[in-house]
Amino acid sequence: MDETNGDLGQDPQEEATGVPIPPRAGEAARRRGPFAKGDRVQLTDPKGRKHTVVLEPGKQFHTHRGALAHDELIGAPEGIVVTSTGNTPYLALRPLLADFVLAMPRGAAVVYPKDAAMIVGYADIFPGARVLEAGVGSGALACSLLRAVGDTGLLVSYERRADFADVARRNIEAFFGGPHPAHQLRVGDLGTAEETDMDRVVLDMLAPWEVLGTVARALVPGGVLCAYVATATQLSRTVEALREYGAFAEPAAFETMLRDWHLDGLAVRPEHRMVGHTGFLLTARRLADGVTPPPRRRRPAKGAHGEPDPATGEAAAPGGPALVDEAAPAGEATLAGEAAPRRPADEP
Ligand SMILES: C[S@@+](CC[C@H](N)C(=O)[O-])C[C@H]1O[C@@H](n2cnc3c(N)ncnc32)[C@H](O)[C@@H]1O
Repeated sequence: MDETNGDLGQDPQEEATGVPIPPRAGEAARRRGPFAKGDRVQLTDPKGRKHTVVLEPGKQFHTHRGALAHDELIGAPEGIVVTSTGNTPYLALRPLLADFVLAMPRGAAVVYPKDAAMIVGYADIFPGARVLEAGVGSGALACSLLRAVGDTGLLVSYERRADFADVARRNIEAFFGGPHPAHQLRVGDLGTAEETDMDRVVLDMLAPWEVLGTVARALVPGGVLCAYVATATQLSRTVEALREYGAFAEPAAFETMLRDWHLDGLAVRPEHRMVGHTGFLLTARRLADGVTPPPRRRRPAKGAHGEPDPATGEAAAPGGPALVDEAAPAGEATLAGEAAPRRPADEP
C-alpha cells in the first residue's frame, strides 16, 4: 500500500496557525491533492455517464467523443473539467467508495452503499475493531469494513468460492491502492473458522443459521453479530435459530429504503423509480458465557409458530401478528415491535 504523502507542500492550516500537522498516511494521502500517476479518476460527461481511468503518463482515454490525454490530468487539481479532442467536457474527480463499488467488477452480488453504511453504523464498527466477515463475495462490504476498522484494526474475511475471493482481492487492492494492512482473506467456509476474540461478526451469506456456533465462539461478550439477508424467510430462520442457540440477546431487524430526489427548478420531487428491496439487517449482542438470555416479556401470539388456534382450529393467517404484548390489557394486543405506550401528542 502506498503510504507516501506525495509532495503536497505545507498544510494550509499548519501555515496559518504555525501548529505542525502530522503528515497524512495511507488513504488520506492518496485521496487528496493534485492528481498523480496511478490515481483512479472518474470522468463524467454532460449526460452524467461515468468512465474510470487509472492515470498513466503518455496514455490516452478514448471514447466516440474523441481522446483525452492522461497528462492533462496528472498534476491538475481534483474537480477540474477537461475537454476531449471531440470537444466534449468531462468533470474529473476521484471516485468515492460508493462510486467505486457500483462500477467495480462483480463475482457475487454486492452490498449496496446504503446497506454498507447502515452495517458500519448499526454493527458499530469502530477504528481498531477486530471483525470477522463472510462471505466476502466481490469485496464491496469489505471495503467499507476496512475503512471503518482502519489500519490498526483487523478484518478477517471468509469466502468459500476461490473465484469470488480472487475478484474480491483484486477489487479491494484496486480501491486501497494495494493490500490493506488490516485485511486477511481466507478461502473456506466460515463454519471452519477458528478466530476468537472478535468484536464484531458481519454475515452476508445464504444460511447464517448454519454458522451460529462459529459466530458465538468468535465473538467477545457484548460483541455484535450483524447479518444481512435478502429474504424474509432467511430473516425468520436466523432469528429463531439465534433464540434457540441462546448465547445472544434478543435480536433486532430492519430494512433501509432509500429514495433519490429529482432536483430541477420547481420540479423538486422524489424520483419516479427506486430500488425497492435489497436486504434486511439483523443485529444481536453476544452474552457472557453461561448466561441465558433474559426471558422475553412478550408471549408468542396464537398461531405465530404455525400451531392451530385452539379457539378456531385454524392455522395462523399469513402476516398475522407475531407477538402479543403481555402488558397490554386484554383485547389490546399490539403488533410485535410496535411501541406500546402512546405519546401524549397522539392522544385524541
Ligand atoms: C452476496 S455474496 C456477498 C457479497 C459481499 N458482501 C459484497 O459486498 O461484495 C455471498 C457470498 O457468501 C459466500 N458464502 C456463502 N456461504 C458461505 C460460508 N458458509 N462461508 C463462506 N462464504 C460463504 C458465497 O460464496 C458468496 O460469495
